[in-house]
Amino acid sequence: MDYNDIKELDEKYYLSTFGSRLPVSFEYGEGCSLYDTQGKEYIDFVAGIAVNTLGYNHPALGKAIVEQVEKLLHCSNLFYIESQAQLAKLLVENSCGDRIFVCNSGAEANEGAIKLARKYFYSKHLYRYEIITTLNSFHGRTMATLAATGQEKYQKPFEPMPTGFIHVPFNDIEAIEKAITYKTCAIMIEPIQGEGGIIPATAQYMQALRKLCDDKGLLLIFDEVQTGIGRTGKLFGYEHYGVEPDIFTLAKGLGGGIPIGAFVAKDFVASAIEPGDHGTTFGGNPLACTAALTVLSTILDKNFLEDVKTLGHYFQDRLIEVKEKFPFVREVRGKGLMLGMELEDRIPGKDIVLDMLDKGFIINCAGKNTLRFVPPLIIEKKDIDKLVENLEVCLAKESHNA
Ligand SMILES: Cc1ncc(COP(=O)(O)O)c(C=O)c1O
Repeated sequence: MDYNDIKELDEKYYLSTFGSRLPVSFEYGEGCSLYDTQGKEYIDFVAGIAVNTLGYNHPALGKAIVEQVEKLLHCSNLFYIESQAQLAKLLVENSCGDRIFVCNSGAEANEGAIKLARKYFYSKHLYRYEIITTLNSFHGRTMATLAATGQEKYQKPFEPMPTGFIHVPFNDIEAIEKAITYKTCAIMIEPIQGEGGIIPATAQYMQALRKLCDDKGLLLIFDEVQTGIGRTGKLFGYEHYGVEPDIFTLAKGLGGGIPIGAFVAKDFVASAIEPGDHGTTFGGNPLACTAALTVLSTILDKNFLEDVKTLGHYFQDRLIEVKEKFPFVREVRGKGLMLGMELEDRIPGKDIVLDMLDKGFIINCAGKNTLRFVPPLIIEKKDIDKLVENLEVCLAKESHNA
């Protein structure tokens, strides 16, 4: 089908929640490039929104998935599942957690973390259920994760929200201290706010959060849906801060494109869960777990994470050079290959995204007006150089128009 036919079908039959999408339809991908229905190449700095960790048509991932498809797609959690058990072992051995649960998405992983936090206190006969989250956060689109999300615009049309979530400013420890009551059970934050515009937590804040949770007997939950699985140059975002969460959640990059989510918990919390408390039909099926196992093993192999870190530094330095040339670039932020460039409001980030698309580069806009760069973790220096060169051309055009 050509692009116009696909667009026509979409506009007629698909729920219009994505509005007008970016004007391209992709047919296939290879490495860090996507190719549209006309055969035009695009270098991808969005990676399906931090999902396609190993890029496109990765040989090991493709092979593992195809072999698993031929063996067994799904069998239900009524049974023991080899790849699920192996994935659990690998995640536990490489994280601060002791037990994992596999589901299908980031929102579902966060739902699970919320349930686990509440169950932990319920099992102690304590009526503590409130979770403090931060303004400008994003935790998902299900009702509970929407209520956890600190952005009114996503909540308003769906009120009333489920109760039990309090929002306070990000990177503000005093605000959290003030919000704690006898009902508080946990604090949940993203180590780097992703959808909110690539805003990293400070080390001071993260360390103070850990101390506060220890002092007050609260659980610390990190939403690592976007920051996890190597995105920031470490396997998990929390590793940058010298603190460990009691529960953390994963999704996006974990399956390299196959839908999967997970929450990981320390034993003292995980042991609150009893048979029947939680479940899933599809979550943790052999296909998804095989994909995740392959992605995780690849990332843990040799110098993979070291390379992400080096490239991340290089990319950030190049973006800082761009900032120095264009005064309307407010800030360059992020860690590893999760980077953002905030622009002054008068420069419409969305127009730059379209202009870059036209030039064959995929980027997107997050938060208020922040260009977001979350490429496959296998991106190369030469791709970063090409992106920067083209970005400068687009920004120069915008500065002319502004
Ligand atoms: C930090 C964070 N948490 C949760 C979610 C929700 O994940 P999903 O769309 O897989 O439900 C997202 C999605 O962007 C996210 O960035």
